[in-house]
Amino acid sequence: MNFPYQIKNLEQYQQEYKRSLDDPSGFWGDIAEHFTWKKKWDTVVQSDFHHADTRWFEGAQLNITENCLDRHLADRGDHTAILFEPNDPNKEVQKISYAELHKRVMEFAWVLKNNGVKKGDRVCIYMGMIPELAIAVLACARLGAVHSVIFGGFSAQSISDRIQDAQANCVITCDGANRGAKTIPLKSVIDDALVSCNTVNKVIVYDHIQTPVSMIKGRDAWWNEEVDKVQQSGNTYFPAESMDAEDLLFILYTSGSTGKPKGVVHTTAGYMVWAHYTFVNVFQYQPGQVHFCTADIGWITGHSYIVYGPLSAGATTLMFEGVPTWPDAGRFWEITDKHQVDILYTAPTAIRSLMGFGKEPLQGKDLSTLKVLGTVGEPINSEAWHWYDKEIGKEKTPIVDTWWQTETGGIMISNLAGVTPSKPTYATLPLPGIAPELVDENGNVIEGMDVSGNLCIAKPWPGMIRTTYGNHERCIETYFSAYKGKYFTGDGCLRDAEGMYRITGRVDDVLNVSGHRIGTAEVENAINMHEGVVESAIVGYPHDVKGQGIYAYVIFSGDSSNPDLLKADILQTVSRLIGPIAKPDKIQLVSGLPKTRSGKIMRRILRKIAEGESDKIGDTSTLLNPEVVDEILLNFI
Ligand code: WTA
Repeated sequence: MNFPYQIKNLEQYQQEYKRSLDDPSGFWGDIAEHFTWKKKWDTVVQSDFHHADTRWFEGAQLNITENCLDRHLADRGDHTAILFEPNDPNKEVQKISYAELHKRVMEFAWVLKNNGVKKGDRVCIYMGMIPELAIAVLACARLGAVHSVIFGGFSAQSISDRIQDAQANCVITCDGANRGAKTIPLKSVIDDALVSCNTVNKVIVYDHIQTPVSMIKGRDAWWNEEVDKVQQSGNTYFPAESMDAEDLLFILYTSGSTGKPKGVVHTTAGYMVWAHYTFVNVFQYQPGQVHFCTADIGWITGHSYIVYGPLSAGATTLMFEGVPTWPDAGRFWEITDKHQVDILYTAPTAIRSLMGFGKEPLQGKDLSTLKVLGTVGEPINSEAWHWYDKEIGKEKTPIVDTWWQTETGGIMISNLAGVTPSKPTYATLPLPGIAPELVDENGNVIEGMDVSGNLCIAKPWPGMIRTTYGNHERCIETYFSAYKGKYFTGDGCLRDAEGMYRITGRVDDVLNVSGHRIGTAEVENAINMHEGVVESAIVGYPHDVKGQGIYAYVIFSGDSSNPDLLKADILQTVSRLIGPIAKPDKIQLVSGLPKTRSGKIMRRILRKIAEGESDKIGDTSTLLNPEVVDEILLNFI
């Protein structure tokens, strides 16, 4: 496969960028010509930001799996599509060729169909990071069902909320997942979640860790037995369903500033073009390379840069089941060496954590095949950037700092590896098609250089969010209302003298903990469910490894004679209702929270205290209860 739209130098980037904004239809229409369509589009783009109504490639018909699988069969059917590195380094690596993956996806599409899943149905997938997860995702797309992958670390309650919101009728899971030295009993978590979900009538279970599970007659079926039936039927070819360009491809739930996670919706054609184009350009992918993205498919990064981006380009995508620090902190480097990885894409939190183990884990690991390093998910601090550059990239491997979001479908602001300039801690320049604007609190666009403001995107791009599932008003309200006619990212940003962008972090009530988005309201709601908790407030504070840590201020009315037990109970509650990722790092019991006279919690003050900047609290005299600030400061942990 060749990529005539792969940008090769800075000058070409500037030309392409200009054309993409001057003539988006011509620009994206030309790129789209390089995909497989069942029917071409009538119009390239139509958009009305006021109603959050954007359509790309309207009138076209396609199936994304034909672009990720079928079109590679003739010239690279025997190339490895998925390279699977199991949790346990002593277990066998799996290499799945494009031909094999095509076959397995079609067989599993039959399984779904035989179990009553139809085009347009929603299927929730809750599995570990194993090839079958990618197969399940692609089989949904083959058949035209909408997949919604749920990260393996979410609790039964979180899963149930998502399944109900999506009104899913089928769940695909495993008996359990391996994570380092631990196993996670996925099927039993699903069983708990399904107690409150009456839309689900089928659960397909992949037997991965051979742990006993209870199978419910009529509802639950074993993956392998169902695939056997398909193979025995003799008819394994599953034609790719014809999808309209704007048919839903997937829903992915993400946290916002209100309590309930929202289902970000991506549709077929625009997302495909965007995931592919950004993959090929940002990482400067060359045929034959091995791409190792360490994200989980439960997050958008896994969707776009483990599954759809790499596979649409015919790449070898490395899927790793385990964790970076088990059996030891050299695991990523060992994998890079063993599989001769060309592109490594990971998160600042992983870099910071591995940095903490020093050079020892790097001993004897050959990293010389690496050609591109990437980071995503949170701002990267200078120290981590330089460590990554020096110790991993040996100061000769370009680092791409890629800024984007679940809602944007793919990378939005990033250097193109080795093609456009990099600058430590800067995401740098927008990709073609992306029109960033910095806006002040009153909605005025901030022009010029050396400025900062709230980051908006002024024009539609192919991979943008189309709606929030089941509630379009919420999509308008969340993303298109703060600044009329613009998409608001929720991030603060600065633009330096050269026009390079640096993302400074969220400006809304969303925390970024280890690169995971966590809504403060969601955590507060969970804590408030604990018997005896009257009220709570969550803020973020700087954390050496996680980027941000979670600080909880909790008013408790019950027996608090054993505060340690109480805190452990609160952590347990959060784990049960959301998942371990949302557990506060610090809990301070307080008798009150600082409030304005209208009763609003003054988070700014709580944030300053948690950040250890109590000298910057400012005037508290206008508060309803200034005395609680003193009390909180006195007991600050
Ligand atoms: C943050 C992850 C700084 C940002 C793909 C954004 C970043 C949120 C970067 C989206 C980066 C992501 N530099 N901050 N390179 N990349 N972020 O939806 O705050 O899980 O809004 O998508 O992560 O997180 P999400």
